[in-house]
Amino acid sequence: MNEKSSRTYLLDNSGIGHEPTAGSSVKPHNRVGFLNHHLFADFLTGPGFRPLTTRFEKEIMGFKTRILDMCGSEKKETKRTGDFFELFTQELTRTSLRATCGPLLLELDPDFPRRFWIYNCGLPHFLRRIPRLFAREAYEARDSLVASVKLWHTAARLRFEPRYVDEAADVDPFWGCNFFRQRQESLGGIDNYDADAIASEDFGAIWGFNHNVILAAFWVSYEVFRDHALLSRVENEVAACADATKLSGIDVEKLVTMPLLQSIWVETLRLRVHIFMSRKVTQADLNINNWLVPRDNVVFVSSTPAHMDTASWSCGPDHSHPLDEFWADRFLVPQSDGTAAFRLDASMSGSWIPFGGGVQMCPGRHFAKREALLTCAVLVSCFDVDLAVPDGGMEMDWSTCGTGTLKPKARVPYSINRKEHGGVN
Ligand code: HEM
Repeated sequence: MNEKSSRTYLLDNSGIGHEPTAGSSVKPHNRVGFLNHHLFADFLTGPGFRPLTTRFEKEIMGFKTRILDMCGSEKKETKRTGDFFELFTQELTRTSLRATCGPLLLELDPDFPRRFWIYNCGLPHFLRRIPRLFAREAYEARDSLVASVKLWHTAARLRFEPRYVDEAADVDPFWGCNFFRQRQESLGGIDNYDADAIASEDFGAIWGFNHNVILAAFWVSYEVFRDHALLSRVENEVAACADATKLSGIDVEKLVTMPLLQSIWVETLRLRVHIFMSRKVTQADLNINNWLVPRDNVVFVSSTPAHMDTASWSCGPDHSHPLDEFWADRFLVPQSDGTAAFRLDASMSGSWIPFGGGVQMCPGRHFAKREALLTCAVLVSCFDVDLAVPDGGMEMDWSTCGTGTLKPKARVPYSINRKEHGGVN
């Protein structure tokens, strides 16, 4: 975004509440924080949420079909050559982009997912402000992605007519959904916002909608497939959620309440998400445990100390499950009837903060859980996956620490075959 447009952020001291912060004179149409926040909330926790989940359920069937095609019709003894991570960075990103932005962006730029992950791998360069000269690939990927979003906007504007919007007043084949249509109006009204600025904003949204969850979905499935005993327990939970009346053949609302899957989800985020949340101290100096943060300063809160705090989390009998290792059962409590219940209660809410907190807490958290667990469920019920994992497990790449879910440090060779008898419809 050019400097003139991005100054809108610097000048916006009106907060994200309906009422602007006292003393702010920012005009309503320039309240960029408020406009963004409320469009996100409507899309991800308000009226846009169910239609979005339904679209994802439909699109995950395309994900399954593409992998079935990859496998071919015969069960074969394949060598573990491909990279399991790429199944997520390519195929799941495609699925998620279609669910959020509709089909047109990918029709215009089928290579978007590949460059999206080149950009993501280049995040450390942007964070350290490495000049373009020394990080050409990352900068070129970013520029080309924003250019594709702008091209998508131009094409959607030309082709869209109100009659294409579905009965629920949400989906259309060009903008994808109401969220992106509304953003054209709201963001288009901001002073000094041109087509490039709006494309940058939408690219930022697309990044937030995909980066953390695709990586988290990878880690969930990685943990499940690398441990055969865990896989068989997960298979049982997934089988209990089979429902032929659902688009994906799985009752997603039931799936996200299953104790073991919930524990795997929460543990994955505890271990893999290392994110800095930023807050600006606006009203008065802030006193935290006698540390004074002067007004107008920015505070970064890291999720890592809380997620690694031995006083907060169970480490199992005799500390057999240290916090730097994945333990699927960390959030399960044995019940008297022999079953286990999932437990992440209010007493832990300040310690489990992958989604941040307060009014700025991630609005995509409900969708993220559905996306990651449904992806895992489809893989578990339809495919046999064999991963080649180094002893001691795959290390994480800490170079993007602070931006959210970490990547694996190396490739994860794998083979995949369709299951002989199984699978969702
Ligand atoms: C594992 C997955 C995810 C993680 C760890 C994550 C984490 C976060 C965090 C830490 C924040 C900032 C919260 C704060 O400042 O307190 C955030 C904001 C946000 N997230 Fe997520 N997120 C994930 C998935 C998603 C998904 C799937 C979506 C949308 C589909 C999404 C949309 C957003 C948006 C729009 C914001 C900004 C909200 C605002 O400024 O009003 N996130 N996320």
